[in-house]
Amino acid sequence: MISTAHTLPRTLLRLLVPILGLALSGATAAAGDAAAGKEKSASCIACHGADGNSQAPTFPKLAGQHADYIVHALQGYKSGSRKNAIMAPLAVNLSRQDMEDLAAWFASQDGLHTLEGQR
Ligand code: HEC
Repeated sequence: MISTAHTLPRTLLRLLVPILGLALSGATAAAGDAAAGKEKSASCIACHGADGNSQAPTFPKLAGQHADYIVHALQGYKSGSRKNAIMAPLAVNLSRQDMEDLAAWFASQDGLHTLEGQR
């Protein structure tokens, strides 16, 4: 009886630790793929530049921007919470994975100096 009381929590832990590990690694795997993002960025180049360093001040630089900021901005354009006549029709066609991939690509480029980029 006593031994069961001791082993049960251990057994549970042995089961839970890998499950938690999987959940965490799953979250990372769902993040963007920069190589796929590069492919998908063809339609962004005209305004934001090939690597996200746009040449015109009317088009924000995306290079070096935090990936989560880029995803958030794109979701805003898609949902309408952030209004822009140019970006809205572009974002409407992007899936969450497209957004993550594009964000990973632009975030990995040299441009804005964010805290992440200075590490
Ligand atoms: C026809 C020009 C044009 C194209 C093509 C374009 N954008 Fe934009 N983008 C803009 C403009 C203009 C803004 C600024 C809009 C605003 O003020 O909210 C913007 C803003 C953004 C922002 C927000 C930046 C910030 O600093 O808040 C993101 C992210 C973005 N674009 C991503 C993309 C992606 C990804 C693509 C390709 C799928 C793309 N854009 C294609 C013109 C364009």
